[in-house]
Amino acid sequence: MTAREWFTRAEKENFAIGAFNVDNLEIFKGIVTAAKNKNSPVMVQFSPGEVGYFGLKNLVDLVINAREEYKIPILLNLDHSRTVEDCRAAISQPGFDDVHFDGSHLEIDENIKNAKDVVAFAHSKGVIVEGEMDKLGGSSEVHEEEIDEATLRQSYTDPKRAAKFVKETGVDIFAAVCGNIHGTFLNQKDLDIALLTQIKGALPDTFLALHGGSGTPAEQIKLAIKAGIVKVNINTELRVAYHDALLEKLGESPNEYKIYSFSNEIAMAVAAVVENKIDVFGSAGKA
Ligand code: G3H
Repeated sequence: MTAREWFTRAEKENFAIGAFNVDNLEIFKGIVTAAKNKNSPVMVQFSPGEVGYFGLKNLVDLVINAREEYKIPILLNLDHSRTVEDCRAAISQPGFDDVHFDGSHLEIDENIKNAKDVVAFAHSKGVIVEGEMDKLGGSSEVHEEEIDEATLRQSYTDPKRAAKFVKETGVDIFAAVCGNIHGTFLNQKDLDIALLTQIKGALPDTFLALHGGSGTPAEQIKLAIKAGIVKVNINTELRVAYHDALLEKLGESPNEYKIYSFSNEIAMAVAAVVENKIDVFGSAGKA
């Protein structure tokens, strides 16, 4: 099934597909192991920084091989790409299902112009496109402060503007901003489900993505899925699971230099987080 078919099914059956960022091999293995255990489709995604680390061709080969080895649906997305060139490079690599052109740092007209360019090329190759109109705050890290709600609210999506943006760009997925923010904070995230419902009402034929999934209470994620979210992005919680497991293993065996001997346990710590997310998103058993 194509990404479009998966998201269409997710919308119809009221579940979401987790879009999990990949920093390294252990995190990748944790994601695909969890998906296999849960018989669930997953999306793996690489930001430009993560692409830079792996190399575009290497990561595509990794995903294609995993599809054959694990025999579960693994969708591949380029996450938060800020240039048309990078999107075109990914689309040109057989194996990509989706690219996220993040033009939220641009003037709206520039964002629309570039997104249209990406959409035209992507659709010619059977790839779908996610667009981002409102700049999502935060960063995929552990923030030692509380969310600044007033600042956050300034970036919330206006449903009417979203409808115009989607009509003019032709994007297939829209990154909704409704209280979500990248990273984890001292206080929990509080999604505006009423606004999300209005956004979906304005975009009945467009898939909705929720960025900044880490640190969002499960009950809020479930309400967001009911309101129309079909793609939930998760990065920070995977990084934390990897980081903490590595620290623990090195603390137990500070003189162990065969770090790969820890790798599987570390990957399984990541898998435990992904399995929990799959249960919350409702995609378990859907593969
Ligand atoms: O695109 C990536 C995600 O939005 C990551 O957000 O680090 O809060 O899970 P997160």
